[in-house]
Amino acid sequence: MNILITGGAGFIGSSIADAYREEGHDLVIVDNLSTGVLENVPKGAAFYQMDIRDEGLADIVAEHDIDIINHHAAQIDVRRSVDDPRYDLSVNVLGSLNVIEAGLRHGISRMIFASSGGAGYGEQEYFPADEQHPIAPCSPYGITKVTVERYLHYFHLVENLQYTVFRYTNVYGPRQNPHGEAGVVAIFSDKLLSGDNPVINGDGMQTRDYVYVDDVVRANLLALGMDASDTFNVSTNRETTVNEIFRVLNVAAGEPAEEMHGPAKTGEQQRSVCSYDKLMKQTGWKPEISIETGLTRTMAWFRDRYEEQR
Ligand SMILES: NC(=O)c1ccc[n+]([C@@H]2O[C@H](COP(=O)([O-])OP(=O)(O)OC[C@H]3O[C@@H](n4cnc5c(N)ncnc54)[C@H](O)[C@@H]3O)[C@@H](O)[C@H]2O)c1
Repeated sequence: MNILITGGAGFIGSSIADAYREEGHDLVIVDNLSTGVLENVPKGAAFYQMDIRDEGLADIVAEHDIDIINHHAAQIDVRRSVDDPRYDLSVNVLGSLNVIEAGLRHGISRMIFASSGGAGYGEQEYFPADEQHPIAPCSPYGITKVTVERYLHYFHLVENLQYTVFRYTNVYGPRQNPHGEAGVVAIFSDKLLSGDNPVINGDGMQTRDYVYVDDVVRANLLALGMDASDTFNVSTNRETTVNEIFRVLNVAAGEPAEEMHGPAKTGEQQRSVCSYDKLMKQTGWKPEISIETGLTRTMAWFRDRYEEQR
């Protein structure tokens, strides 16, 4: 298949790109390299350094006769969305609309969209959240992710666009950056390797649902064969505290640090966890990488990169 991946130079998009290449698909990557890097783009993929808001995107879709668009490009920084909601809206909503319209004009068979469970459900009313949980985003980033889901549903109704929405929880693994939703893993890893003691906000009992990037990639492989339009959590159904993240990474780093706590961050969400039952029932998908294995692999990747840079 001919697949366009937006954001394919970034953490998750490039990991999906590697897997799609291995399966023999022809890939086109569009990325403005604002947080992504060229070295993540797999060999053999056509690469365009372009903003997703650029109208030239439609020409690329037509020229490469694209069958499926996998849309991962986004402004991903929740804090930036709070400071500059217009920029977040511009990239995440207008940019996504441009991607959808380019796909519609060419008659693509499916669009896959990276949405967010944690940011979309907001403060949860029950645990774990399934896909029926009320949508109550607490940030402009969450609002824009949910809005794009609504546009996809709208274009499904009026233009028969087929889509798969994945609501990821906190995705971590090699290539991740510190501004994403699982940023704590990158931040702690960097600090542990450079000899700085990480500081845990508050009592460290805040929980998130951390899903390893390889498991997310497998969901994106399954999406290529889907025939309905639907929305799925991609998660682990397991809560992990910040303290546990610190402890596993500290062991993987050779225990260089003391467990240190600082003041709690005001307004920080205390618990977040999502159920993957729906995706499992429909496709058999379930997470395969435990948090201990995933964090140890991630630390190994950060260590290699740290040593290369010295
Ligand atoms: N990492 C997570 O925990 C997580 C959780 C839920 C959802 N998501 C979503 O998954 C997707 C990928 O996130 P990631 O963690 O890999 O982040 P990332 O920053 O590594 O990837 C995003 C990519 O999009 C590119 N990009 C940004 N703005 C662009 C623009 N205007 N035009 C073209 N390219 C642009 C960046 O250069 C980058 O390569 C995003 O849509 C994000 O919202 C991520």
